[in-house]
Amino acid sequence: MSVIRSQIVGCGSYLPAHAMSNAELSKRVDTTDEWIVERTGIKNRHIAAEGELTSDMALAAARAALANAQMDAQELDTIILATTTPDNTFPASATTVQAKLGLHHGAAFDIQAVCSGFVYGLTIADTFIKAGQGKNILVIGAETFSRLLDWDDRTTCVLFGDGAGAVVVRAGTGEGSNADRGILTAHIHSDGRYKEKLYVDGGPSSTGTVGHVRMEGREVFRHAVVNIAETITESLEATGLSVADIDWFVPHQANRRILEGTAKRIGLPLEKIIMTVGEHGNTSAASVPLALDQGVRDGRIKKGDMVLMEAMGGGFTWGSVLARW
Ligand code: UT7
Repeated sequence: MSVIRSQIVGCGSYLPAHAMSNAELSKRVDTTDEWIVERTGIKNRHIAAEGELTSDMALAAARAALANAQMDAQELDTIILATTTPDNTFPASATTVQAKLGLHHGAAFDIQAVCSGFVYGLTIADTFIKAGQGKNILVIGAETFSRLLDWDDRTTCVLFGDGAGAVVVRAGTGEGSNADRGILTAHIHSDGRYKEKLYVDGGPSSTGTVGHVRMEGREVFRHAVVNIAETITESLEATGLSVADIDWFVPHQANRRILEGTAKRIGLPLEKIIMTVGEHGNTSAASVPLALDQGVRDGRIKKGDMVLMEAMGGGFTWGSVLARW
């Protein structure tokens, strides 16, 4: 039986030039390199330069992904940009990327699911492709998260950074088995009861300001480990695969302890985690495609490998995508 499969045919990423170390940060707030490394695994985070926008980083990642896919931008029909930090409240920053790529056809729009944004974007792309709505879709996660931080709040400002990652998803065909190349299953969830645990205390409709990130870290941690393990289980159940079939685990990079805790909980060897949190911290929607690109470029993720992506963030939102590379 021939089925439509959404195949990830290229990826790319971008990090701003300025890497801010824990030592640099400890001059601004009451923190230490030891505390940050021990509690989170983070050593550096990249901070966008003055005037460097989410759309600039998204564009750089998009161009890298298109080059990696050996695809001309004109072949794209849809651009989905996952971001919590758009250039402007409107229009969607995706339309700026579209214009800068020289595209005047198709559709470009932003989605907002905070740290789960890229997993949501991939799920939407998969659904679009299966419904015949698009054939060549660019999915980007890009954030200037540093601009949402309260730089006097040590409980949040040490955790986040800026960056972008992108993939090109192309309509292909398969036999309907787990041997097919492409997305095999995708699952997204949200539960709005937990808004107060992780949110920004501003917005166009509430305060008319941008606001700052507020988080009950320990509570978010607790929910993250449970929700991530659950969504991994549902991906495996939907495909009949087991943890042993996963070649690479590409998680949202929030905290090394969450990633290791999740891996232990599901019985996945730690060597199978693509872990980049140490070098760029939590980049929200950009974190999964940044890690994916790292794993592909350093040769770990190879054609035919089974890749499990997941994320969890504000809302709460969470989800997972299982794909054969
Ligand atoms: O991307 C969305 C998902 N986000 C996440 O998944 C984040 C989940 N949460 C976490 O990663 C962790 O909860 C944190 C890294 C945010 C915090 O780690 P923790 O082990 O849960 O620490 P804690 O919040 O329980 O704080 C422990 C202590 C506190 O001091 P007391 O009350 O024990 O005296 C904090 O005030 O550490 C203190 N503390 C710090 N000390 C030095 C908090 N932040 C810092 C800091 N430097 N930056």
